Amino acid sequence: MNPETAPDAEARRSTPPVRALLRVAVLISGGGSTLANLIERICDGRLRGVRIVQVVSSRPDVRGVEIARGAGLPLAIVQRRDFAALDAFSDALVHAIGQTPTDLVVMAGFLCRWRIPPPWRGRVLNIHPALLPAFGGQGMFGHHIHEAVLRSGATRSGCTVHLADDEYDHGPILAQREVPVLKDDTVETLTARVGQAERELYPEILQTIADRGTAWLDSFIRPVK
Ligand code: GAR
Repeated sequence: MNPETAPDAEARRSTPPVRALLRVAVLISGGGSTLANLIERICDGRLRGVRIVQVVSSRPDVRGVEIARGAGLPLAIVQRRDFAALDAFSDALVHAIGQTPTDLVVMAGFLCRWRIPPPWRGRVLNIHPALLPAFGGQGMFGHHIHEAVLRSGATRSGCTVHLADDEYDHGPILAQREVPVLKDDTVETLTARVGQAERELYPEILQTIADRGTAWLDSFIRPVK
């Protein structure tokens, strides 16, 4: 029988190809609005082919933990202060991430530095609410960022999604989204405008990775000479 005219050929043509799910671990330290946005978009179908398989929080008492629990997601707490050395903390994180098969680690307001071991290099994403390399690094979080932007007189800000390395807010940039800084902006109004850009950009990048595969990320990594 000709496979192209077989009775089920039409059904096969109209059925979208089955994609492997992108299994994501989300690292949080605080409010969890980034996590909540991803959960909402996965649930309502705007973010397709992505499954959150693990949440790891560096703090036990934050709203992000409640959000993860409320969504029924596997949750681990790994606190920096429980480990004297950065390497031990990093090992504990990797252990928590590795409890279930995972393709990608997504830092969502995770404010601890950690050492990313070779198997995970190029597979850890971060979002930062500024146009890196400006206004990033240790101490640049929350209102500090937007205060610094306003003080600088910059006329634009925005957010950056990048591959993480072992430094704060550092690594190859995947995408940025700009927003204007308005004359009468306050920290609150600028936070809200950048936050809106974050809520759009992170899911867009995750959708691209879900569609193209994690190998797409390799094109952003320069070979070490
Ligand atoms: C977000 O604005 C994220 O970009 C930022 O922390 C916030 C987390 O909010 N990340 C950084 O500053 C990383 N240096 P959330 O805890 O409500 O998701």
